[in-house]
Amino acid sequence: MTRIGVLTGGGDCPGLNAAIRAITVRANELGMEVYGIQRGWAGLLEADARPLGLDDVAEIHKEGGTMLYSSRTNPYKTEEGPAQAMEGFKKLGLDALIPIGGEDTLGVANKLTDIGLPCVAVPKTIDNDLSATDVTIGFNTAVTVATDSLDRVYTTMRSHQRVGVVEIMGRHAGWMAYIAGMAAGAQVVLVPEKPFDIEQVCKVFTDRKSRGKPYGLVACAEGAMIKGGNEALQTAERDDFGHVMLGGIGKTLAKEIEARTGIESRHTVLGHIQRGGTPTAFDRVLGTRLGYKAVELVNSKDYGKMVSLDGDEIVGKPLSEGVGTLKTVPDDRVQMIESFFGL
Ligand code: F6P
Repeated sequence: MTRIGVLTGGGDCPGLNAAIRAITVRANELGMEVYGIQRGWAGLLEADARPLGLDDVAEIHKEGGTMLYSSRTNPYKTEEGPAQAMEGFKKLGLDALIPIGGEDTLGVANKLTDIGLPCVAVPKTIDNDLSATDVTIGFNTAVTVATDSLDRVYTTMRSHQRVGVVEIMGRHAGWMAYIAGMAAGAQVVLVPEKPFDIEQVCKVFTDRKSRGKPYGLVACAEGAMIKGGNEALQTAERDDFGHVMLGGIGKTLAKEIEARTGIESRHTVLGHIQRGGTPTAFDRVLGTRLGYKAVELVNSKDYGKMVSLDGDEIVGKPLSEGVGTLKTVPDDRVQMIESFFGL
């Protein structure tokens, strides 16, 4: 009997449980076994997994987070890591692996594929920055939460005639700030793809002040940068994959806006509120469709692939395509959103 291992790695997101449930359901139908590997790649290194049956996954598609837990463990951080991962795979008696993850997890899957591990990957991340899929699991929920939060901050800013700067996750891709900012009608949207001019941002609010509207909203990506060569604000600490922790631009910007425009300004960091909680219908269904398709690729031994949303279809694409380059917000979209600044 074919035995599939499934793991979730990197930052969690709503919709992961829907994918785990679909993998288990489809595998069961096709007469395969599923083992849930705990805490991402850490669980594979330690051969820490348990069998998943239909009863284990019933109803979990509605819940946020991941029933398998997650970690940012990188098997390639140590010399012996890759061999240890292969060893864990053997020890667990697995025939195939379905890693569910973002650029880091899928990058590891791609390298392990090259050394012989049979993988079919499932793309997830609230950042939506993976190439080779139109959308990743978790993005829809995260932008829905971010939009709702922007709407809420806006009404109180308007009541108190303040500027609200809302810092939104997304790392080096501005998808979350761009979509949520556009949906909420923020007066300024700042993304990492285009460093911003602080004078221009302030002018938006001084113009509004002169029109009798001394208040408004800035949707600011955590990776946004002030023009003039500044780096995105970040901590010195790095995770296993070498990523710094971004954050602080919202506070800096709110202070600058207040000092330069005379309008009281406040900042809000949405943080993990964007990543937690109940998935939207879209993410439940996307997770389900992607997980289901991943098992079908395993069934036909079509390894070295990732499942992907392409238009309205779920298709298999080479895993290497998904991890080659980061998908960022194109120039024309950034330009378009600027047409609405100040409104
Ligand atoms: O990649 C997903 C993400 O939520 C990013 O948007 C954010 O920068 C990062 O993870 C935060 O990671 P952590 O929860 O490990 O601090």
